[in-house]
Amino acid sequence: MTSIGILGTGRVGSGLARTLAATGHQITLGHRQPPQETPADPTGGVPAIRHADQRTTAATTDIVINATPGDTTLERLSALHTELAGKILIDVSNATRHAPDGLPSDLCYPGSSLAERLQRALPATRVVKTLNTMLFTVMTAPADLSTPPTAYLSGDDADAKAITAGLLADLGWKPAWIEDIGDITTARATEALVLLVPHLLRRHGLRPFAVSLAR
Ligand SMILES: NC(=O)c1ccc[n+]([C@@H]2O[C@H](COP(=O)([O-])OP(=O)(O)OC[C@H]3O[C@@H](n4cnc5c(N)ncnc54)[C@H](OP(=O)(O)O)[C@@H]3O)[C@@H](O)[C@H]2O)c1
Repeated sequence: MTSIGILGTGRVGSGLARTLAATGHQITLGHRQPPQETPADPTGGVPAIRHADQRTTAATTDIVINATPGDTTLERLSALHTELAGKILIDVSNATRHAPDGLPSDLCYPGSSLAERLQRALPATRVVKTLNTMLFTVMTAPADLSTPPTAYLSGDDADAKAITAGLLADLGWKPAWIEDIGDITTARATEALVLLVPHLLRRHGLRPFAVSLAR
């Protein structure tokens, strides 16, 4: 059992929280404004998920997943450098500017990536980028796609990537579907794949997809 903090309680954060809690991990869900009272069990019977503010979540867990808007992540997580020191930070966010319809239109960090900037800003934290190249439903149900999906891993620390791969396995990812593409600079490739997403969503709506390798 690993103590995992998830920053962001939206589609991505709540889905990861439910599935990782169901596989036996201790989950703390980090809200901007934590609920005053413990909410009704959101997991439908799987072990309880704790709720806290984002700073407390980062401070009290061993692995932290960032599932908040990517365009403001660098500033917000840099301010949590003390809480994140010595930990693994799994960044699943996409740092994009938005078109008038709310869909991604361009990268915030062309020629670089959010993950690289996070690693530079948080030298005492091991940053791993993954899961940002698919619809949120696929993160926790990869086997539901009719073609095998790919989860890319980028990061400077081999142990942190191995631990992240273990969590992906808990989410249903087979080893053959996990592609370690190298150090943290490789995240600029997977972060750029988000430029495909608005076109797919406009054509197909929320039909599950992953941007995957075919061999
Ligand atoms: N949706 C997808 O299919 C998908 C796929 C791949 C990657 N991603 C990336 O994953 C991240 C989360 O996506 P999502 O679809 O879950 O978004 P979402 O449904 O809008 O949820 C984002 C959550 O982040 C928190 N948040 C919002 N603004 C914030 C701020 N200024 N500071 C701190 N926390 C804030 C909110 O939780 P609280 O209000 O409870 O604090 C919110 O529920 C994004 O970076 C997105 O690009 C999404």
